Amino acid sequence: MIRPILIHPDPRLKKPCEPIAAITPEIVTLASDMLQTMYDAPGIGLAAPQVGVMKRLIVMDCEKRTDAPPQPMVLINPVVLWTSEELSTYEEGCLSIPDQYADVQRPAEVRVGWRDLDGSEQERQFDGLWATCVQHEIDHLAGKLFIDYLGPLKRQMITRKMEKLKRELARG
Ligand code: NI
Repeated sequence: MIRPILIHPDPRLKKPCEPIAAITPEIVTLASDMLQTMYDAPGIGLAAPQVGVMKRLIVMDCEKRTDAPPQPMVLINPVVLWTSEELSTYEEGCLSIPDQYADVQRPAEVRVGWRDLDGSEQERQFDGLWATCVQHEIDHLAGKLFIDYLGPLKRQMITRKMEKLKRELARG
């Protein structure tokens, strides 16, 4: 089931999320719905608070080659274990901030630990677009958006555009 994606500004996008204590059928459904919602958007990552669920769960698929099979990933309670000193800059966007893009500098490589849907512990080192995406999504779980890395003027400009968009959407 495709779930509606919250648009910034929304208080739920600014709040830290709770860890997931048990992988219940609701969590399995949430993960499947979030992947479907992400592919439909389309996007390369989605965090649970973006669909209004305040839990530490993210999904992503940064496979860009059209001839390659999809690589859906579900990360439960993800934590960044290590970041490289080397930085990289990507032009980031966010499904909660539609059509707005800006350069963000982050560690070029990160090591992340998480639980998968079977409850088993996973650990992996990410680089390239995957590294940017996983950091962007884990930020969401702490109530942090990519525009929080920008200067106040740029951030306010984007926030005003989103407020206008939300008024237009509300009018229908
Ligand atoms: Ni985002």
